Amino acid sequence: MNPVEPQVQIRRMTAADADRVMEIAASLSAAPVWPRYAYVDALDSAAAVPRLALVAVAPSAPNQGSSRPNPAPSPAIVQGFAVSSLLPPRAELETIAVAAPIRRRGVGRLLLAALVAELKATGVRELLLEVRASNQPAIGFYLAAGFVQTGRRAGYYAHPEEDALLMSARLG
Ligand SMILES: CC(C)(COP(=O)(O)OP(=O)(O)OC[C@H]1O[C@@H](n2cnc3c(N)ncnc32)[C@H](O)[C@@H]1OP(=O)(O)O)[C@@H](O)C(=O)NCCC(=O)NCCS
Repeated sequence: MNPVEPQVQIRRMTAADADRVMEIAASLSAAPVWPRYAYVDALDSAAAVPRLALVAVAPSAPNQGSSRPNPAPSPAIVQGFAVSSLLPPRAELETIAVAAPIRRRGVGRLLLAALVAELKATGVRELLLEVRASNQPAIGFYLAAGFVQTGRRAGYYAHPEEDALLMSARLG
């Protein structure tokens, strides 16, 4: 059984999460690193481009069980986040990331499912994204979530220069 997924909670990002979110973002090589104000702006419901920002709160290490009868629970901290624009009937998944030690345990899937549920409730019917062509883990994740490739933008990314794959998912 997946040891992390049952202990994960998804909730709205708050300004108090910004430092931890930036810490996770700074550890990524393939994802965009936003300045702090960009995450805080994403929480502003009056912004010109409204956004939906969620975090996954989970134990800091997989709780695999213990030989002790009453092991202390691992502290729960922000372990992942997702931000999308919100322009019904479309939205763009601008960033999604899970802390490296707990990847491939279903946290990204839970974050995306919660995001999609909230987007659908606001009338979004299509979710778009761009991803570095070399980012195979993310591409695998998006394909598993039902995204399809709709195009390619040559030389879209800098440092290093690289093509972007354009992907899209219809939200039933
Ligand atoms: C992409 C990312 C968010 C996925 O999060 P995650 O919690 O590891 O993903 P999940 O465990 O929920 O995976 C769900 C499914 O996606 C697919 N998947 C996830 N990681 C994969 C990988 N490395 N290779 C291939 N498929 C993968 C699998 O089908 C997986 O299901 P399975 O484990 O039962 O086979 C995570 O890899 C990450 O944070 N990457 C760095 C940041 C980044 O590149 N973000 C995208 C660009 S902004």
